[in-house]
Amino acid sequence: MSTEMKNILVTGAAGQIGSELTGILRQRYGAYNVVATDIKEPPSDLREAGPFEFVDVTRLEDLETVVRKYRIDTIYHLSAILSAVGEKKPQLAWNVNMNGTAHILELAREKSMTRVFIPSSIAVFGPETPKNNTPQETILLPKTIYGVTKVAGELLCDYYVRRFGLDIRGCRYPGIISHKTKPGGGTTDYAVAIYYEAVKYKKYTCFVKEETRLPMMYMPDCLKAAVDLMEADFSRLVHHAGFNISAMSFTAAELAAEIQKHIPGFTCTYAPDYRQDIADTWPNTIDDSAAREEWEWNPEYDLARMTKDMLNVLSRRFAEGNL
Ligand code: SER
Repeated sequence: MSTEMKNILVTGAAGQIGSELTGILRQRYGAYNVVATDIKEPPSDLREAGPFEFVDVTRLEDLETVVRKYRIDTIYHLSAILSAVGEKKPQLAWNVNMNGTAHILELAREKSMTRVFIPSSIAVFGPETPKNNTPQETILLPKTIYGVTKVAGELLCDYYVRRFGLDIRGCRYPGIISHKTKPGGGTTDYAVAIYYEAVKYKKYTCFVKEETRLPMMYMPDCLKAAVDLMEADFSRLVHHAGFNISAMSFTAAELAAEIQKHIPGFTCTYAPDYRQDIADTWPNTIDDSAAREEWEWNPEYDLARMTKDMLNVLSRRFAEGNL
């Protein structure tokens, strides 16, 4: 098996993470060696800076065609239905998340691919899991369909590592905060929306209670995790598909207070909906010592630094009439 990542495929490239990770991978490995794919129309920069193909990950033949055409040896599989939309459409979430992952793993096996990245989520945890400093090895009894597919996905990835000797890697992302592409249908989306609304209207109605504390991460750290984990030395990895990673944890009220330091007139009110029930099943804080030991995971952004950056970027765009 070759150890080089030469021809890279990204699924879900038009999504929140994909729209930024694709650019980073193109800078690192060459624009024409990174094929962006999605089911939906991509932002123009993604289409113009390198190859793009429409792919529905539930259709094995779509994936096969692109893998053959570009001689793909490495995949970043980012397509997924997130937790909130998943609860509205559980069958769709099962189909996209489970069959998508199974298709990617089968193609990786058939083509003896070099390496595959399939992210997991804090949604693998459930109410029975210890909530504080949640350990790497712990109870995985999720209550959302999204979490069910992420646990099954982790297990399937680890099975392919052991049974077929493949190199599959993944980490359990917390809520991801960013300003390029909005997240779609997650429980942690309030932590992104609050910044946009603060800049535009100086007020926000949050769909979880003020005391709700969840693990979160700023996009630069999210991208760093994907790159660092994929470039780590395989022989040092004890875990494969389900690394706990952590950057910061805050309550909705702490987030609002941090924004108020920059926008004093900002007010946040709270109107919890069905997503509160999902948030209540997830941890407060995560123990990421395995990731730190096995591939030197080390995040750079905390709440204060992230907030400063988010508000700078969004305020500039608002002033330009571009938000
Ligand atoms: N951000 C995701 C969600 O809220 C968690 O992985 O569904």
